[in-house]
Amino acid sequence: MPADNPTRSIGNRLKHICIIMDGNGRWAKKRFMPRFAGHKAGLNTVRKIVGSCVEQNIEVLTLFAFSSENWRRPKQEVTLLMELFASALTREVKKLHENNVQLRIIGDLSAFSEKIQQLVNEAIALCADNTGLILNIAANYGGRWDITQAARQIAHKVEQGEISIDDIDESMIEDHLSLRTMPEPDLFIRTGGEKRISNFIIWQLAYCEFYFTDTLWPDFDKKIFEKAIQSFFSRQRRFGRTGDQLTSLKK
Ligand code: IPE
Ligand code: IPE
Ligand code: MG
Repeated sequence: MPADNPTRSIGNRLKHICIIMDGNGRWAKKRFMPRFAGHKAGLNTVRKIVGSCVEQNIEVLTLFAFSSENWRRPKQEVTLLMELFASALTREVKKLHENNVQLRIIGDLSAFSEKIQQLVNEAIALCADNTGLILNIAANYGGRWDITQAARQIAHKVEQGEISIDDIDESMIEDHLSLRTMPEPDLFIRTGGEKRISNFIIWQLAYCEFYFTDTLWPDFDKKIFEKAIQSFFSRQRRFGRTGDQLTSLKK
């Protein structure tokens, strides 16, 4: 974080930002354009915000791109979203690599076409040795799916006799979730005006700071992003303690 910004100096550390990028469809509708035009415009915002995180040395950025419930959309929109995903994987990855970004895709990839799965594998491999921003793209992701798949993995280990039931604790569950090994998200942003989690990374949001904006994702920019970050730094994260305890801890 820039040292000359006093609101950023106290207490809170901002390592991981997660975003529900919502409002593409409404952005397009307002302009009498097809919903897909909103998704395309949304990709420009992704580029800008990733760039901003790289500049600010944020450790992890997790973006909700396609939820496990988004398959319920009209077939044509789903098809176009898949095409956009494939083209983004082809066109954007070189730039990410140049920026030292570590790309990860979280979600149930088995539902995607073989072509997309191959593009995902190639993209991840290209960026595998990078050491900068970790960019998690949540695709066919659902928080409930994530916890369920973790439970299955753990149950399998119990069945195989690798661990006993008494070994299961919160940290073991965390170690089997898609975001294992990463710092927990500190700041959650949702654009588009809705005040809900929509089955995003529900386990990790337990102690995250929330920021909602009515701005539609294609209109979201560095200025509003900075506002969300400022808001984060103005808060006191107590994690169950009292405010007085935190003040005395700082002394
Ligand atoms: C978010 O924008 C992008 C995806 C879910 C893929 P929406 O498409 O949900 O946009 P609105 O909410 O309909 O405006
Ligand atoms: C959440 O947005 C998922 C993504 C942004 C990818 P939605 O637009 O699907 O959420 P709901 O349906 O309004 O809750
Ligand atoms: Mg939406």
